Amino acid sequence: MTAPAPTGKPLLDTARGLRQPKPPIWIMRQAGRYLPEYREVREKAGGFLNLCYAPELASEVTLQPLRRFDLDAAIIFSDILVIPDALGQNVRFEKGEGPVLDPITPQTLGRLDPDAVLGHLAPVFETLERTKTALAPEKTLIGFCGAPWTVATYMIGGRGSPDQAAARLFALNHPEAFARLIDLLVEVSATYLIAQLSAGADMVQIFESWALNLDENAFESYVIAPNKALVEKVRAAVPDAVITGFPRGAAGMIGRFARETGVNVIGLDYATPLAFANENLDSKIPVQGNLDPLRLVAGGAQMESRAREIVDGFAHRPHIFNLGHGIVPQTPIENVSRLIDIVKA
Ligand code: CP3
Repeated sequence: MTAPAPTGKPLLDTARGLRQPKPPIWIMRQAGRYLPEYREVREKAGGFLNLCYAPELASEVTLQPLRRFDLDAAIIFSDILVIPDALGQNVRFEKGEGPVLDPITPQTLGRLDPDAVLGHLAPVFETLERTKTALAPEKTLIGFCGAPWTVATYMIGGRGSPDQAAARLFALNHPEAFARLIDLLVEVSATYLIAQLSAGADMVQIFESWALNLDENAFESYVIAPNKALVEKVRAAVPDAVITGFPRGAAGMIGRFARETGVNVIGLDYATPLAFANENLDSKIPVQGNLDPLRLVAGGAQMESRAREIVDGFAHRPHIFNLGHGIVPQTPIENVSRLIDIVKA
């Protein structure tokens, strides 16, 4: 196979397997509460979901981190929980509490309306179109969705939980209803990602934030199979779609996730040792990650030396520098600038 031609977007090219002399960088949750200009716009929008569905403001917030920092990508401002919202489930973001949903049951599952999804999410596509026009040509525009299992854990449990017990029990006690829910989420998430790619996203990321706490059989059926089905559906419509998988907590299952789902890039959480990733992932597969977000909060020498270790550890393969999970609100802005300087040095 011949190497693909460069696009002029270093981050996208890395994701397509073209190693760069210096790793391109973006930061998960790079638009967010650690930025005063974000907090200001969020206040003006009158709530988080309103902001997600206001294209002009959402596009502004998407671009904010790129005005401050030399990042190589913008990620569209939205949330993984716009899917349950679009399906008709009640989703609220309460201050200081995170998301709260009215949990679905096997009995209420049938009320979810997949035909409503594209219409409801039209503002997200407009945000992508606006952002694409405003973005410099060398920057990559990233779209995203939650993976079916991760979204299902919120739909079933009604909120984030340390062990996803409600969703794990639902899957074991109601296997048919669970399969219907996962199939529905594969279907609507594929439609959603395809629409994001046609609205201007250069690539997409599937956030499987709760790939942890699962035994190997559960991992195979809740995580690998739905991610694979989602990737296949997207590629059936967009054959050259560039897709990042982020199976947070996959641990010993990371190699199988990479081989079996067909994603282009593997996002690594910060608990994944660099050598373990290199041993378990073919050296042609691009990786993304994986600095601990709290190292970015604390800053200083420990952050700088770990960032250099990560850059060196993945120097022989295509690598997109990132955190190993989202940036947290208490992160000092000057530490972000320093990190980017280190990675680009
Ligand atoms: O990365 C970006 O800058 C793009 C926007 C983005 C948000 N959420 C905005 C957001 C992305 C990519 C997400 C993904 C997301 N949302 C995930 C997967 C990534 C991860 O962190 O594991 C998950 C699990 C969610 C669900 C979610 N949304 C939670 C658990 C929370 C509360 C926790 C928190 O950080 O407040 C949210 C709210 C949320 N999503 C905020 C932002 C900027 C904060 C809301 C606010 O402004 O008050």
